[in-house]
Order: sequence, then C-alpha cells, then structure tokens
Amino acid sequence: MKGKNIIVGICGGIAAYKTPQLVRLLKKRGANVKVALTEGGARFVSELSLATVSEEPVYGKIFPPMGTEKMDFTRHISLGEWADALVIAPATANTLARLSAGLCDDMLSALFITLRPDKPVLIFPAMDGQMFLSASVQRNIATLAAQRCTIITPESGELASGLCGVGRMPEPEAILAALEEQLLGTKASSPLSGKKVIITAGPTREKIDGVRFISNYSSGKMGFAIARAAAKRGAMVTLIAGPVHLPSPPGVERLDVESAAEMYAASEAFFKNCDLFIGAAAVSDYRPAEPYNGKMKKDDEQIELTLIKNPDILAGFGMQKSPDQLAIGFALETQSGLGNARNKLAVKNLDLIAFNFFDRKTSGFDVDTNILTLIERDGETTELPLLTKDGAAERLLDAIEQLCLKKAVKP
Ligand code: PMT
Repeated sequence: MKGKNIIVGICGGIAAYKTPQLVRLLKKRGANVKVALTEGGARFVSELSLATVSEEPVYGKIFPPMGTEKMDFTRHISLGEWADALVIAPATANTLARLSAGLCDDMLSALFITLRPDKPVLIFPAMDGQMFLSASVQRNIATLAAQRCTIITPESGELASGLCGVGRMPEPEAILAALEEQLLGTKASSPLSGKKVIITAGPTREKIDGVRFISNYSSGKMGFAIARAAAKRGAMVTLIAGPVHLPSPPGVERLDVESAAEMYAASEAFFKNCDLFIGAAAVSDYRPAEPYNGKMKKDDEQIELTLIKNPDILAGFGMQKSPDQLAIGFALETQSGLGNARNKLAVKNLDLIAFNFFDRKTSGFDVDTNILTLIERDGETTELPLLTKDGAAERLLDAIEQLCLKKAVKP
C-alpha cells in the first residue's frame, strides 16, 4: 500500500467508531489517507480524531467555510483525481441511495462522481438487517454494483438494534485485506500460500442394508467455506467430501466419498505430504457391523443392530503428524462443550480445535452461520461472534495463519 492514495468515506452508522483504526492501519501500511465524512458520520466519530490519525484535514461539506481558507470550489475534483481508491465504510442506506441516484450534495458524493473510472470503489454497507434486505437498499446496491463498485456483504452478528442478523461492518483488518486484494490484484501474501491443505467436510453414510444408512445433518457448508477461503489465500486445497449437495469451490480439488472408512482411506493417502489437515466433517462414530446385503425385511417386531467403532481420521493424522504439520479439528457439542473440546484437542494431538454448539438455528449443522470458539494447544481461547460460515472460515484461517507463522519462527 506504500504511496497509495486512499480516500475513506465515513457515513452515519454506529460502526463509524471503528474507522480511526482503519485509517491507522492504512497509514501503517504506508498509504496516504484522506477522509470524507458525511454529516451523519460526524455524529458518530469526531473530525478531530480522524484528522489526527490521517494527518490531513477532514472533508465534509462541499463548500469550504467562508473566509477560513482559500476559496477552492474544486476540491471534490482534485480529490477525485488524487485518489487511487475509495473505501466507504460504513455505508448507510441513505448514502447508498444518494450515490446510486448521482446526487452530489456533500464531499463524499461529489468526489464519488469525479473519481476516475478505473479506480476501485469498495463499499461496506452496515445497517439493521431488515434495512439491508429491503427492496430499496438492494436496488441501490445493484445499481452501484452495475457501475464499478464492489459491494461487500455485511457480516452477521449482534446489531446496534439489539437484534441478530446480517448488517455488521467487517473489522478494520478485514476491510484493509479486501482493499489490498482489490488494489494490488492479489491477497496480501498469506502464510497459507502454496501450502497443501486437506479438508474433510460433510457427513458420512454408514450402510445398514442396501437402501438404508446411518448419517447426520451435516450439510458440508462449514468445510466448503474453509476450502473456498483457503484456496483464495493461495493454498493447494484437497476437499474430501461426504455426500453433500454443494458445488465445488473454485480452484479446489474435490474427492467425493460416502462412508467413514472411505473418508479415512482418501485422507490417509495425504497424511504424509500435507502441511495442514482440517477435520470439519461430521464423521459417523459407529457403523453397522454387518450391513445386510439387499433390503432388510420387516418381518420381526424388534431387531438388533450391532455397531462397531469407525476409525478416527483426525486422531489418526494427529498421532502421525510431523512437527512441521498442523492438525485442526472441530468439536460439535451439545453439553459440557468447552471441556469436551479441550479434551479432544489433547487426545487427538491437535494444534487447534474449533468448538461449535449444536443449536440448529444459528450454529452447527446445516445453517449458514456459526459461532466458533477457537482453542489452541497453549490454552489460548478466542470466542468469535455469530458469523456467516464464510466469515467464520476466514477467522479460523486467520488463526491458523498465526500458528503457521509461530511454527516458522521456531528454532
Ligand atoms: O456441515 P455443516 O452443516 O456446515 O455443519 C458443520 C459442522 C457442525 C459439521 C462442523 O462445524 C463440525 O463441527 N464438524 C465436526 C463435527 C463432529 O463430528 O465433531 P466431533 O466432536 O464428533 O469430532 C471431533 C473431530 O474429529 C472433528 O474434527 C471430526 O471431523 C473428527 N473425527 C471424528 C470422528 C471420526 N471418526 N473421525 C474424525 O476425523
């Protein structure tokens, strides 16, 4: 970002309080930053804070105050010419409407129009979930996206209204990463780049007979989100998927399996030469000892099914791994969650375990969101908020990247 000229547009939403941190991060990366603050934005974050961290005057109204500085009525044009990129965070429903309508009644909307067409514009809407999903906001977003704007879908979580839902502005670090990706054409170099990553996802099916099986509600969404995010960071991803109805993430090699035994065999082939193994699959712990050939008859009032234990794929990797390899697991729990998760971390010899609670509404199986608690070997525990599974995958990979870096600096 060194030497890049970035304009940060800030509108009137509660998330505006995070923007001085965004400006600081940009400055630390060597960018030159100027802030365009809307009238509403100025109610949430002070001009003085932003001027201090950006080391520049803050731009608000389109006309300079009379007599206080050189009367320059073309500042919006010179700002538009100066900028290499414009980031609007948070973007309110009101500003989205004004930008899509082409109004230019303050500095942000005016410079938006004067910005050179080849310069990226990243917009981070942040508002109440119902507002975000409303027809008018979605129409304005579509209009702006059809121009050159990149609209980043807000994250899910607790909102200022006290409700939970989509609408939260991503953290400043994530905004910076998105900007770097747009501006520099690539993700900032990730420690996962070039790493061979194996991910298990989805359920397994254990045959009872020719037409029936034991399985669970896993949809594969969590594992697929991790595969997608890891591939975007430059990892070479092999996704070993149980029976799910999901398209393959771009750039990911996918192997479809059905039973735990098949998942074990497919995974084991990579144990020796992968850098990272992530077990996101809900592997059936048991399988029928002797699956019936053909379809079982229902003549008996009661039948007994003998189940035998399946091999534990993740534990198998955890026990064999070399000091250079990382083993990451998940723990799906209904009770005594954190204790059980910590126990699995130790018993399976993992480097990190992501604990998720089974509630069928916001986290665990077959929903689009998850609430993860990341537990590391040294006991460090990070509770993540309610996020989309894509958002949770990004945060999990951020933690894994830190583990990779720690390993790299070890003597
Ligand atoms: O697929 P989704 O609908 O998106 O749901 C996501 C999820 C809830 C399935 C996922 O987030 C998750 O928690 N996956 C692990 C579920 C699980 O089976 O947890 P567990 O506590 O039983 O197993 C612990 C770990 O050992 C897991 O990493 C599991 O993949 C692994 N394991 C378990 C048994 C076994 N035989 N082999 C394994 O590798």
